[in-house]
Amino acid sequence: MPTMDLVPASPDDYRRRAERRLPRFLFDYVDGGAYDEATLARNVADFRQIALRQTVMRDVSRVDTSAKLLGLHASMPVALAPVGMGGMLARRGEAQAKRAADAAGVPFTLSTVSICSLEEIAAVSSAPFWFQLYMLRDRAIVREMLERAWSVGVRTLVFTVDLAVIGARYRDVRNGIAGGTNALGRLRSGLLSYVSHPAWLVDVAIKGKPHGFGNLAAYVPNAKNPAEFRAWVESQFDASVTWADIEWLRGIWRGALVIKGVLSPEDALLAVKAGADGVIVSNHGGRQLDGVASSISVTPRVAQAVGDRAAIFMDGGVRSGLDVVRALALGANGVLIGRPWAYAIAAGGEAALKKMMQTFQKEQHVAMALCGVDCVDKIDAAILDHASSGPYAIMRAASCAGDPRPNVIE
Ligand code: GLV
Repeated sequence: MPTMDLVPASPDDYRRRAERRLPRFLFDYVDGGAYDEATLARNVADFRQIALRQTVMRDVSRVDTSAKLLGLHASMPVALAPVGMGGMLARRGEAQAKRAADAAGVPFTLSTVSICSLEEIAAVSSAPFWFQLYMLRDRAIVREMLERAWSVGVRTLVFTVDLAVIGARYRDVRNGIAGGTNALGRLRSGLLSYVSHPAWLVDVAIKGKPHGFGNLAAYVPNAKNPAEFRAWVESQFDASVTWADIEWLRGIWRGALVIKGVLSPEDALLAVKAGADGVIVSNHGGRQLDGVASSISVTPRVAQAVGDRAAIFMDGGVRSGLDVVRALALGANGVLIGRPWAYAIAAGGEAALKKMMQTFQKEQHVAMALCGVDCVDKIDAAILDHASSGPYAIMRAASCAGDPRPNVIE
């Protein structure tokens, strides 16, 4: 049993609290990844390898961490990523996260498979939020969801493209919440973990109802719990989706379109060609194809290929404000954080998430100040210590020498 810190300081501290508070299957759903979780680990580890270059004696009495994300002002270049079933992590968890994101001055992204509906989140405040959608087999539902999103004020659509099939997540299988498990086994593991987490049981399971997927309730009227909704969602994943479907989507969505789940310069360019305003370099938090590269290692190549034709975001492995600065130095315009906000909301609700976002901003501030830059536009590869950055040193050296394949990491 890990010792408990008196005051959580880092996402890892919130993670440990979340682990104690949540039923096992829920904690594992958020915390886990696909197969051996190698990519999940790589996402985090690769960030750590990137050394920042300290530069002192600049006037850094005014450091501005703010950034424009798709034309909108944010207090820092960070958005909360879509997290499925966020409303099971804390009572009406997505609404609490939206309030914390508002307080922090960053966008919140609502997942398709959230507990709170678009309408419930829109009622939290007038601050805009982003909405994430998958391509569902039933295109009439896709259209209707887009209309609903637009009518409650969503202007940025985060469209997930790496879910043609679902990655095998061993933890979900073991806990009986992935396909192939009988209903009895699922019920037994659920009940056991419920009763051993009484605080969560009262606060979320009892007082936090209803627990359907708010956005989908109208389309699955007979589903009563997240497991039944999941079964419907899984039956709706469309393995036949191609870029032509994104062109179709582009034709019916008037707002900003951000394609989430590209992991190569080639796919990023196809996304831009299909009409994307932004791409998110992502391996779905290591939850889909285990064994692929970390998002941060691919980010520079994508940024270089896309240039200023679209905004570049990345997610996967961002665990501090230092990582935000590292991602920007490697070409991102912004990052999304998933697990950190999920851990914080599970650990202590809105208040904990607000605090964690303040920590991120302070860390970004310190990193910028000690790298000698006072605004995000000045963050570039020059603030990295290339000689000490493992594979990134090679990337940068190649880039300086005008190598025709400049960002290949060897
Ligand atoms: C859904 O997108 C998940 O990663 O669980």
